[in-house]
Amino acid sequence: MESQLEFDVLVIGSGAAGMRLALGCAPTARVALLSKGTFEDSSTFHAQGGIAAVLDEHDSVESHIKDTLEAGAGLCNPGVVRFIVERGRQAIQELIAAGVDFSRETGPDGKPFYHLTREGGHSHRRVIHAADATGKAVATTLSQRVAGQPNITMFNHQVAIDLIRQKVEGRRVGRCLGAYVLDKASGHVRAFLARVVVLATGGCSKAYLYTSNPDVVTGDGMAMAWRAGCRVADLEFTQFHPTCLFHPQAKSFLITEAVRGEGGRLLLPDGTRFMPNFHAKAELAPRDIVARAIDHEMKRLGLDCVYLDISHQPAEFIKGHFPTVYKRCKEYGFDMTKQPLPVVPSAHFTCGGVLTDLQGRTDIEGLYAVGEVACTGLHGANRIASNSLLECLVIGRSASAHILEAQAQAPAPAPARPWDETGITDSDEEVVVAHNWEELRRFMWDYVGIVRTTKRLERAQHRVELLAREMDQYYRSFKVNGDLLELRNLIVVAGLIIASAMGRRESRGLHYTLDFPQPDGSQTPRDTILVPPNFSGVSAADLRLWGEQARAGCTA
Ligand code: FAD
Ligand code: SIN
Repeated sequence: MESQLEFDVLVIGSGAAGMRLALGCAPTARVALLSKGTFEDSSTFHAQGGIAAVLDEHDSVESHIKDTLEAGAGLCNPGVVRFIVERGRQAIQELIAAGVDFSRETGPDGKPFYHLTREGGHSHRRVIHAADATGKAVATTLSQRVAGQPNITMFNHQVAIDLIRQKVEGRRVGRCLGAYVLDKASGHVRAFLARVVVLATGGCSKAYLYTSNPDVVTGDGMAMAWRAGCRVADLEFTQFHPTCLFHPQAKSFLITEAVRGEGGRLLLPDGTRFMPNFHAKAELAPRDIVARAIDHEMKRLGLDCVYLDISHQPAEFIKGHFPTVYKRCKEYGFDMTKQPLPVVPSAHFTCGGVLTDLQGRTDIEGLYAVGEVACTGLHGANRIASNSLLECLVIGRSASAHILEAQAQAPAPAPARPWDETGITDSDEEVVVAHNWEELRRFMWDYVGIVRTTKRLERAQHRVELLAREMDQYYRSFKVNGDLLELRNLIVVAGLIIASAMGRRESRGLHYTLDFPQPDGSQTPRDTILVPPNFSGVSAADLRLWGEQARAGCTA
């Protein structure tokens, strides 16, 4: 196996963002597309509800923007919201042209039309979907397109470990040249070199004990970017999805918000509906409000779960709209056409991430970040439902347009130092990784969850510091493997989440603390931006979208 491979563009992550970006680059660049598993091991593949876009003649871009800003609780970047929302229709048209079979119905005139569902926070039906398995339809189509592109080489079962940077005299962080990558099958570490490197590694919800996310979502890209010298933003805003199936074997299987969009009601065990007590939009309030209301009721009454009931709708309607959810629930012994489903919230989405502009540029020259790993400013303090896949597609496209130009002018990467394993042995203490993994995810759930306090955050901070010290020693001593690398990254992102949460001395959007239960009205809402010790403050930082200039110059 070669120890170095060279491409024009290295894309780490094959979810919607990575695949869309790779397809945009493929016409003129040689692309390596890496994935920890296959394209099926991604949040994208598991997405259920759909993609928000203005497709109905009675809907408007202004309304989609307004709903997004409202959910974001004062922290969305309005220019970014507009940029992405305005390109929604185009993104959907591209998917349809590529072959995604979105759900259709037939109108009274006998003509078929795309069915749009409703989700929390949206004031119109604007979520296009492929039944309740939208992610599978999108990912499968994109992966087929990728497979048909001779310029894209897929590398499955690879774990990127760290980014490779050029050493530059007088600067602490030089251009990004590639990444060291573990081949899971052989255990070898190779250097993937490229003119441009893209992080498309998704979020970090695996930092929590209960999550709707697949196992690969361990914050690797955020941790790699931070170690390499990139700033991160708004990581205190972890979104908890209100309704995951409560069953010991279900691994927090998601019950799509579209169930509530199509009339599902949240009930206490005695059948009382409680959401109208919390928000005028009841079950369709923004997600932070619904998750917090459930948490409140569970704690108040000492419940293990609440219930989601759509059994008043006709059975055929339920099976037709939610075939995947219906089937999975049946496997666990629940018939949603006849009975309410037991549900609990679980960690679902990372609103913050690596600070980028609308073309995915980060603080490091030659390094881009797209999709859930990034913080563009779209989601603010709370993502509105189904805006995430939209962001992956729109920014995947605009970044690829920029990269095509940038990579043509970028220098060919210099050879990298080979991966150094001097003094490293095989671990004889795998139990340390398993134990620390469990400990981290549990204290994140208990202390950094839906409702926070300063004391709990301090406890979590203390523990994460201990784990970081232990990991540092462990990482220097033992040969790397997938679990060790993921835990190393989770410890970094957990530390960043806690630091961000401690810095926000108010409650806003998804960040709710009993010590400061109200938004701070005394100042303009601000993003939490963490600066790594090796931040160089050069390159794209000056051009980023957080200044008007970059936005005006963005033409994709
Ligand atoms: P992902 O799709 O998560 O892909 C990440 C990729 O990075 C994977 O290929 C992974 O293997 C790879 N990777 C990670 N680390 C490494 C590494 N170190 N080395 C190599 N590869 C790596 N959003 C919506 O808009 N609508 C929905 O209906 C919706 N439903 C959802 C339902 C569920 C159950 C979940 C979990 C999420 C849902 N979301 C939804 C959110 C949305 O799916 C994600 O935000 C989005 O798919 C993220 O896409 P991505 O390309 O950024 O990352
Ligand atoms: C869902 O289907 O409820 C998930 C939608 C989303 O996370 O955007």
